[in-house]
Amino acid sequence: MKKLIALLLAGAMCVSMAACGSKTEEPAAPAEAEAPAEDAEAPAEDGAPAESGEAAGEFTTVTEGVLTMGTNATFPPYEFYDGDDIVGIDAEIAGLLAEKLGLTLEIQDMDFNSIVTSVQTGKVDIGLAGMTVTEERLQNVNFTDSYANGVQVIIVKEDSPIQSVEDLNGKLIGVQTGTTGHTFCEEDYGEESIRAYDNGSTAVQNLVKGAVDCVVIDKQPALSFVEVNEGLKILDTEYMNEDYAAAVSKDNEPLLNALNAALKELTEDGSIQAILDKYIKAE
Ligand code: ARG
Repeated sequence: MKKLIALLLAGAMCVSMAACGSKTEEPAAPAEAEAPAEDAEAPAEDGAPAESGEAAGEFTTVTEGVLTMGTNATFPPYEFYDGDDIVGIDAEIAGLLAEKLGLTLEIQDMDFNSIVTSVQTGKVDIGLAGMTVTEERLQNVNFTDSYANGVQVIIVKEDSPIQSVEDLNGKLIGVQTGTTGHTFCEEDYGEESIRAYDNGSTAVQNLVKGAVDCVVIDKQPALSFVEVNEGLKILDTEYMNEDYAAAVSKDNEPLLNALNAALKELTEDGSIQAILDKYIKAE
């Protein structure tokens, strides 16, 4: 059921991008007479919006010459601290995207829950945070094409009676506030079953000390957390499949198009895969 929703969302994303295509000129765009080719024609099946090259020169950013990225750096291997630096898959992908767009990357760390609003209100240009494309978020921001897949998994103590998703009823579930793990568990098991924490690591600490029975979180951070905490395991049954993408303001369609064009190039030349492979061990 959840998988189906995720698939439908990919479709919804195309529709929403096509809908935005009917918008008139960007006031802030440089004085170029030529309007970009963005009529509201039926979108191509893969959802590719306007001709990429066209749009690439016309976007604006919060700070000129800079791509400002909002993230929540508690999410290894996508974003985490190495000393004072925020590193990881998203940081590296953003670095390449910025380079393609002729911009310098600046990363702002914030609560996960604030990222969408920061994109919406123009505090940052993109939200890149292992962020899942969801129907709810699409009401407030656009998403680029997806650059990775995520899976929600369940972490339990090694001797836990919980063996699969079916056993979650009546259990206390730890999550990171505002994540899909949070919203979907709340829908499925009710608010009273949820303990929401500032970040995944705190949720896992609470599992270790027995304050919750399990933690629902994305698989790759789950693997990192289990690696550094003894006595935990990840259940084989997956809770949900998701697509990660960058959030962009609905008012900045030229930036969305430029990012998608850059992403396409970086996907085709293998750069994105190389970054994913660097951080994600083959199973
Ligand atoms: N994929 C999940 C979501 O979009 C969790 C993302 C959490 N990311 C982070 N950087 N803390 O809700």
